[in-house]
Amino acid sequence: MIYFDNAATSWPTPPCVMEALAQFLQNCGANPGRSGHRLAIDAARIVYNTREAIAKLFNVSDPLRIIFTMNVTEAINLALRGYVQPGDNIITSSMEHNSMMRPLRDLEKTSVQLKVVQCSQNGKLDVDDVKAAIQSNTVMIAINHASNVVGTLQSLSEIGKVARNHNVLLLVDAAQTGGAYPIDMISDNIDLLAFTGHKSLYGPTGTGGLIINERVDINRLKPLKTGGTGSGSEKEHQPQFLPDKYESGTPNVVGLAGLGAALHWISQQDIKNIRSYELKLTAHLISGLQQIRNVKVYGCLDAAHQTATVSFNIDGLQPSEVGLKLDEQLGIMCRVGLHCSPASHNTICTFPNGTIRFGLGFFNTLSEVDAALSAVKQIAKVVS
Ligand SMILES: Cc1ncc(COP(=O)(O)O)c(C=O)c1O
Repeated sequence: MIYFDNAATSWPTPPCVMEALAQFLQNCGANPGRSGHRLAIDAARIVYNTREAIAKLFNVSDPLRIIFTMNVTEAINLALRGYVQPGDNIITSSMEHNSMMRPLRDLEKTSVQLKVVQCSQNGKLDVDDVKAAIQSNTVMIAINHASNVVGTLQSLSEIGKVARNHNVLLLVDAAQTGGAYPIDMISDNIDLLAFTGHKSLYGPTGTGGLIINERVDINRLKPLKTGGTGSGSEKEHQPQFLPDKYESGTPNVVGLAGLGAALHWISQQDIKNIRSYELKLTAHLISGLQQIRNVKVYGCLDAAHQTATVSFNIDGLQPSEVGLKLDEQLGIMCRVGLHCSPASHNTICTFPNGTIRFGLGFFNTLSEVDAALSAVKQIAKVVS
């Protein structure tokens, strides 16, 4: 079996992550910050260690500015619904996942103005187009770091510079790059960074977060929910300090224990090695697919400017038919269709049928890529 669905959720899980999950349940299992006994203190320490590891990965000076959420979707919702007000203008791109687009479309119904900047057909957002879209009421540029459909990377630090020059915030959906591509909150000029634990961070599902830098006015950023935090229990009002203002309810401690182990594993591999290894796999896949008659590959067709996610189609076949053949006859797991991003498929001109998406990860090998190329060749031959 070949697993090429890492852009949805990465697999396999590093053994140390599975061990951390089991160890937490076996040896701790308590509620962090709610009680004062030693197991509760151990649980709080585990959560804090994961916060520190995230801070290290993304170059965040204060780990308390990291808000843990269930996933990147919740983090984006917190940033958008919490910050944006009626009358504000928000700029986004035509390559967004519905986790960004749907909250933005909801906000549009509350008198928020939305400007969707058109990307080129390879998925790239032009920095000058972003600059031209800024208006006097623009408060935020909200974009992904890399497309979940074609992997195209956006020029974050340049877009962030534009945001700074115009006194607007940059919110980045790093679902496809956190752990797979170096991200630096400071040099990339990011104000709000949303991440998810279960993709290229190799952690468990149910983990993610929003990082809020000092440019964000937390008096303006409303929480999505309020409730028990274990702090300020004498008060009926929500604490206003970080991260408690935004972290109500018992967190996914077991998941965060696993995410902490995953972050340690990533630092041992070294993110630069992860990136260069995936780049090699991606370049091999793109050039192999381009050599198959009847196959059209989408995106920038240059591994150096994208993640390890590659979308393609075979002339005369529906992506769903190809996906079924790959899974049932050839043992290759991938994702087909619209990948929760109709906007991206409109941009790359593959709406409404979508594409076949191979999402490679650090556990894939060149020989798996070769086997997948043979499988695609075999399927493509049927229609040639
Ligand atoms: C770019 C992007 N944004 C958001 C999401 C949503 O991720 P999650 O389901 O972890 O919230 C995904 C996942 O497919 C994604 O690729």
